[in-house]
Amino acid sequence: MENYENAVIGEETIIEENVSVGVRYHPAAGCAVIGDHSILRSGTVIYGDVKTGSYFQSGHYTVIRARVEMGDYCTVTNGSVIEGLVKMGDSVRLMSHVYVCSRTVFGSRIICGPGVTFLNDKRPGRDNAPTKGAFIEDDVMIGGGSLILPGVRIGKGSFIAAGSVVTKDVPPYSFVKGFPAKAEPIPADLDVPVSPEMACQKTDLWHPLGPDPWQAEWVAEYGSEPVPEPLTGAKKPNTKGPI
Ligand SMILES: CC(C)(COP(=O)(O)OP(=O)(O)OC[C@H]1O[C@@H](n2cnc3c(N)ncnc32)[C@H](O)[C@@H]1OP(=O)(O)O)[C@@H](O)C(=O)NCCC(=O)NCCS
Repeated sequence: MENYENAVIGEETIIEENVSVGVRYHPAAGCAVIGDHSILRSGTVIYGDVKTGSYFQSGHYTVIRARVEMGDYCTVTNGSVIEGLVKMGDSVRLMSHVYVCSRTVFGSRIICGPGVTFLNDKRPGRDNAPTKGAFIEDDVMIGGGSLILPGVRIGKGSFIAAGSVVTKDVPPYSFVKGFPAKAEPIPADLDVPVSPEMACQKTDLWHPLGPDPWQAEWVAEYGSEPVPEPLTGAKKPNTKGPI
């Protein structure tokens, strides 16, 4: 199914098959605006009242609900969901299966590893407090599988280790890890600017107009290599059969 009569599509934007963009979630819904040089991959669903910048890239089965605004060079990859009412600056990259609840705000040059979850309701169904999303400042990296609790603010330049559960505000330039996460000053090797190639990527991985780096890497690194030996010290298999 293709549906983009309620959308303004930028110049040289690629739309694959089975994409819905400008979905009229309500009779009063406005249109969706997709910037120039973007790509909407098959399975993408984008509601009305969404505005992307140039070089926006969606993955397969990306869902973006209404009232989302993003700058240029944003990427929302396979299976990621943005629930609506979300703001993003430039160069925000969400890897696969990232869940962004409403009222989350992102600055610019932010990377979220796969499976990061943002929450906005501290006691669902238990009180009537208004929902409050997280606020992620510029130049933050959030490791895969991390959980960012409602209303948490992550300061500029911070690095969140994979699998962290961030329950409190994080001061700028922190290194954060653990459950619950603890912040410490960022070490020198992580206190570096996001590379321009990452921040302003015009074509993401597997892009039809981009280079095919995998072809060369696969042959060079894996093609002629023997399969590595198994790790030693593994537990012996159970030979006694079922209990
Ligand atoms: C935090 C991180 C940068 C540390 O890398 P590093 O500096 O090379 O550190 P090491 O792997 O040498 O580990 C150092 C110590 O930290 C621990 N550690 C590493 N990653 C950790 C994590 N995510 N959470 C908790 N502890 C961690 C290690 O177990 C080790 O502990 P030890 O000293 O008791 O043995 C890295 O592990 C990480 O989480 N990167 C994010 C990866 C990611 O999400 N990428 C997304 C795209 S795929």
